[in-house]
Amino acid sequence: MNILREIRDRFHTVLVGYSDAPETLTTLIRPAQDAKHGDFQANFAMSLAKQRGVNPLALAKEIADKVALADLCEPPEVAGAGFINLRLKTDWITTQVTAQAHDARCGVNPVPAPRKYIVDFSSPNVAKPMHVGHLRSSVIGDALYRVLKFLGHDVISDNHIGDWGTQFGMIIYGYKHFLDSAAYDANPVGELARLYRLVSQLEGYHEAAAELPGLREKLADVESRNRTAQQSPMPTDKKEQEARKKSLKQLASEQAGVSDKVSSAAKKIAAVEGDATLLALARQHPGIIEEARLETSRMHASDPTNIALWNQFMPECLAALGRMYDRLGVRFDLALGESHYQPMLASVVEDLKAAGLAVESDGAICVFIPGVDAPFIIRKRDGAYTYATSDLATIRDRVDRLKADVVLYVVDARQGDHFKLLFETARRWGYDKVDLRHVSFGTILGDDRRPFKTRSGDTVGLESLIDEAVTRARKIVDDNESQKPQGAELDEATRTEISESVGIGAIKYADLSQNRETDYVFSWDKMLALSGDTATYMQYAYARVCGIFRRGDIDRVALRQSSQSIRLEHPAERALALQLVRFHETLDGVVVDYRPNLLTNYLFETANCFSTFFENCPVLKADNDESRASRLLLADLTARTIGQGLSLLGIETIEKM
Ligand code: ARG
Repeated sequence: MNILREIRDRFHTVLVGYSDAPETLTTLIRPAQDAKHGDFQANFAMSLAKQRGVNPLALAKEIADKVALADLCEPPEVAGAGFINLRLKTDWITTQVTAQAHDARCGVNPVPAPRKYIVDFSSPNVAKPMHVGHLRSSVIGDALYRVLKFLGHDVISDNHIGDWGTQFGMIIYGYKHFLDSAAYDANPVGELARLYRLVSQLEGYHEAAAELPGLREKLADVESRNRTAQQSPMPTDKKEQEARKKSLKQLASEQAGVSDKVSSAAKKIAAVEGDATLLALARQHPGIIEEARLETSRMHASDPTNIALWNQFMPECLAALGRMYDRLGVRFDLALGESHYQPMLASVVEDLKAAGLAVESDGAICVFIPGVDAPFIIRKRDGAYTYATSDLATIRDRVDRLKADVVLYVVDARQGDHFKLLFETARRWGYDKVDLRHVSFGTILGDDRRPFKTRSGDTVGLESLIDEAVTRARKIVDDNESQKPQGAELDEATRTEISESVGIGAIKYADLSQNRETDYVFSWDKMLALSGDTATYMQYAYARVCGIFRRGDIDRVALRQSSQSIRLEHPAERALALQLVRFHETLDGVVVDYRPNLLTNYLFETANCFSTFFENCPVLKADNDESRASRLLLADLTARTIGQGLSLLGIETIEKM
């Protein structure tokens, strides 16, 4: 049961008599910040009283008296400027928590009216190795998928793989000119990745070489403007001074920007020129950018050689992705990549033209959204369809065929503009009932607060990242073993298994516990810490609770199936029970704005409530059998709630660590 919703519903019945928009008032009923004020607090009386020109305190009293809460709460207290403080009856919590302790779903009843969700996540561009940038989408998307499903919705996960883009032209070009056959036979995906990097480096070299003279000129120009500005005397007028300072600052940042571009171009050139083999290749392939683009166009135009190569590469690429997803424990119901929508693109463009939404501009076909400068290009001048076109075709398919009510796009914040244009175009196109959401997320940063890179400046490969996490986790497991008072208990195979769960769990939890929209700094030490808000802490907490049952030789299933009830005598027992009863409310909260960090916060607090309970309330050595059985049941529910919560985040638990 979602208690918060229950309380809000009860207030709602009364508030309809006071306001046209009772929902905006009931959202002001929230969990109390301070336990002194009870368990929940309603703050709507102040604004409502203002609207109605009455005394807020009197209004709060009047409403509190009318709401039927007697079974649930102690008599409400009205305090301060008109706050209504609600304290749940301990008897009520007792009944709830006892029911939950005997319920396989830990008290979370499925939604009465399920909706059809499609969660579009991970969605890497294939034939390039997966890197750290793919982590957030995979982890956040998977968690949302699991939570929605557990809540009882009809959910489809779809990996919208980029399998038809310009990277294929690059790989095909590389394959035709630079292939190392032996390497390809031994490790096809590794060799394709090498070819991609090589072509990309050679393209980068030519591009930089073409741009550098212009960039240098631009730099000289901004430097000279900057010098002139700095040399001219500072005006005496305050306002003019401010303006001058502002323009100096702007010049300085412009100079820094151009100077960054110059050095990055120079670096790319130096890297190739410093290597005789690369330089020779660059000289032999002066038109590589254009040629690689042509390979993509040929593939799009069904050129048999390029299509055959695509068909040869794809199974290898998909298998490599699959291995990564297996390791991460991520599963997809569908993996309809961009290529799947190719046959539908022409009709999308025709449809939008016929609807008067798409028009020709400079030879391209575009949708213009009033108020947005950038056009949404759905067919380029050369006839090529775009990322936008295939996303529009995808929406049509998801709504018409799959009957989606909601589509979540778990994608980097940098694609925000694309999704704004996409959703607005879809709405005008007639797809105005479906709820399209960009569940956007920030960047993972390194210690230097720039996007996380390896020491040599390359993007961090996902596989090596996971390997390192597991290696570090192994050290923690070994250390923990060597410190056990009765000596080491776990064999090699168990340690390997635990290290995999702990390492991968740490990476996932560190990501999920952030506000998804903010950038965060990747830190091994923080994410693998044994105390604090980490997966490692949660996993050990879980194993510790399980340890109680092992030590007491308790049959947990029999305990759950018994008619044993829970008694809440100590304040720590009440606090833990209340926390457990709020599991459903938490999961509902996660899907309001698609924020898994609400669940990590909840689990961390639950583990802390358990610690306080465990310090204050002996379980196996309780004073009497009744208390012992009640506390065991509470401990069992705690372990199940933490285990279920972690599993909804895609994090494994281990009974014995
Ligand atoms: N393949 C894209 C990329 O790597 C992400 C796709 C996200 N999903 C979508 N329907 N656009 O940037």
